[in-house]
Amino acid sequence: MVAVVLAGGRGLRLWPESRRKHPKQLCKFLNNKSMLDHTLDRLAKAGFQQMLIITNDELLADIKNIVNNRPDADKIEILSEPDGKNTAPAVGLALASFHSSQPDSIMGIFPADHYVVDIDSFCFSINKAIQTAEQDHIVTIGIEADRPETGYGYIEKTFWEIGSLEDVFQVQSFCEKPDLDTAKSYLKSGRFLWNSGIYIGKIKTLLDEFARHLPDIYQPLIKGYKYYLQNYATLPNISLDYGVAEKSRRMAVVPGRFGWCDIGSWNALAELFPYDEQQNSCLGNDILILDSKNCLVKQNGKSVVLFGVEDLIVVETADVILVADRHRSQDIRELVARLDKME
Ligand code: GDD
Ligand code: MG
Repeated sequence: MVAVVLAGGRGLRLWPESRRKHPKQLCKFLNNKSMLDHTLDRLAKAGFQQMLIITNDELLADIKNIVNNRPDADKIEILSEPDGKNTAPAVGLALASFHSSQPDSIMGIFPADHYVVDIDSFCFSINKAIQTAEQDHIVTIGIEADRPETGYGYIEKTFWEIGSLEDVFQVQSFCEKPDLDTAKSYLKSGRFLWNSGIYIGKIKTLLDEFARHLPDIYQPLIKGYKYYLQNYATLPNISLDYGVAEKSRRMAVVPGRFGWCDIGSWNALAELFPYDEQQNSCLGNDILILDSKNCLVKQNGKSVVLFGVEDLIVVETADVILVADRHRSQDIRELVARLDKME
């Protein structure tokens, strides 16, 4: 059983704290520990003895550094992509290194940047997902949706349980990052869960689904790890969610009730911090907020004062100050694309 940790994303929506060479999985937002460390701790607790981090050449040195400072460093391997090609090729790299040796083993695929409140409950759900994966399903963990978030995948669950396990369901349909109107209709229907981005399956089940739905990745990967890596530049840029989850008929879902958040955007991060009566959240010690409401402020070096404003994200870092509309927290990805020099 191996836990593959995807740690090559760019965390664009958390700019300017998350940067190209120091993306969010390396940031210490909580308890002075990187998100990657939190993830590895959680997976060790869930029983994964072997862990494989997939990152890219640009982040490799920092990730090695994080791993070498851990007591379980000998259980963690790191593989590096020459260039980020999104999550399907990254999972392909893990499959290329394992496929012929351990086809019946379970592979769990995990994002590196999630926040989980109840670790014991997380471990319980993962365990159930592993048992379901033994029956040749690709299992994800679904989170109860409480708002029409457009940054997540949506899982439509059926009402019939799979096999002998309680509270594990076959997936009817999967929609990655719907538009706002669709997300609103999903929320209203009550049939949809958010995709947590965790996928668990046997190596051979994952390979079958790559063969069926992602042949341009499958063909080079079965030629071996070295060949796959040499041909990385030719692989399609596609996420596992679009490439497999939306198409596969072998998806199952375990509803997870452990308190979860993808620290994907400033609004998501704000949810983890206390807020005052006017719904202002502060991250930092030197912040003064007067006659203002629904603002998120992250302060680093300078004092930050807000006066008479509403619905703002204000992030102060060593070299950049961002002031943005709180309702456009998802659009910061596009903003960064327009600011290439400041990345
Ligand atoms: N190695 C590698 N290479 N890792 C990558 C790459 C890549 O090219 N791109 C992204 N990752 C890593 C990120 O670091 C993160 O840990 C994970 O893969 C998921 O990527 P995100 O970019 O954070 O995806 P997302 O948040 O937009 O969407 C996914 O997660 C949501 C929940 O958090 C999807 O799975 C959604 O369906 C899901 O709801
Ligand atoms: Mg994410």
